Amino acid sequence: MSELNMINEPAQEENNRIRFAVAVASGKGGVGKSTVAVNLAVALAQKGLKIGLMDADIYGPNVPTMMGVTSLPETQGPKLLPAVAHGVKIISIGFLVPPGQPLIWRGPMLHGAIRQFVQDVDWGELDMLVIDLPPGTGDAQLSLAQTLPLTGGVIVTLPQKVSLEDALRGLEMFRTMDVDVLGVIENMSFLEMPDGQKMDIFGEGGGQDLARDAGVPFLGAIPIDPAVRQGGDEGVPITIAKPDSPAARALSGIATALVETLNAAEPDESGDFEIEITD
Ligand SMILES: Nc1ncnc2c1ncn2[C@@H]1O[C@H](COP(=O)(O)OP(=O)(O)O)[C@@H](O)[C@H]1O
Ligand SMILES: [Mg+2]
Repeated sequence: MSELNMINEPAQEENNRIRFAVAVASGKGGVGKSTVAVNLAVALAQKGLKIGLMDADIYGPNVPTMMGVTSLPETQGPKLLPAVAHGVKIISIGFLVPPGQPLIWRGPMLHGAIRQFVQDVDWGELDMLVIDLPPGTGDAQLSLAQTLPLTGGVIVTLPQKVSLEDALRGLEMFRTMDVDVLGVIENMSFLEMPDGQKMDIFGEGGGQDLARDAGVPFLGAIPIDPAVRQGGDEGVPITIAKPDSPAARALSGIATALVETLNAAEPDESGDFEIEITD
């Protein structure tokens, strides 16, 4: 608990400047939400953008392991300094509690932790803050939406029917909270066999159908690749470890599609608001 109290300092006057805040959600766990959030953040940073990654999955904070970092740097002032890995600034509850220790959160604690992740972390200037939400449609989502003006959310789903039903709930959740749905991402879309044939392990085309039915952009499909899993376990995301693999290319394409969606949704005459990709 002492670590948590440590961040209980009053927020300082210097403001973080975060242009876009995008939450990555799914109806349930295990669909690759954290994997997508991590690789999306890295892919955006690879395109020359200033990116932060907030692990708001306080029940299963996987971002530190997936990004290969174990601790935060020493604080220099009243705010927490985020960890930095693979060109991305990172904060996670995983830095503040011992690994493997179960966390039992009461609503107000949860709300406080998420508020602190927004206000008491020295994010500096970011083009985008990517937020890995816990699965489901509960308190954390609400806290976040109340604390941070979210630009929008993206939904990660598998192509299969039951996952789509969950994804639809995630989509409805955003809409109830008045958060724009920026698009649908389909993960584990197919497995490419050694002979080049594609095997649809979890069904086919569901993400596209969901996006079409909901009237939101389909941002892309990510194949199944053991290297994706390996990258997560080893702390070197596939977008870094194997940038030319089909899965990494898909993730990079999704990052571009997201930026295009954001730029299209937020027209700004001065051009100030546009994110420019400089890779
Ligand atoms: N496209 C993929 N190919 C292979 N493994 C994947 C892929 N996406 C995710 N995984 C693996 O599936 C597991 C669940 O992913 P994770 O990102 O932790 O899901 P969630 O955050 O939704 O619970 C992890 O072991 C991850 O490495
Ligand atoms: Mg996760």
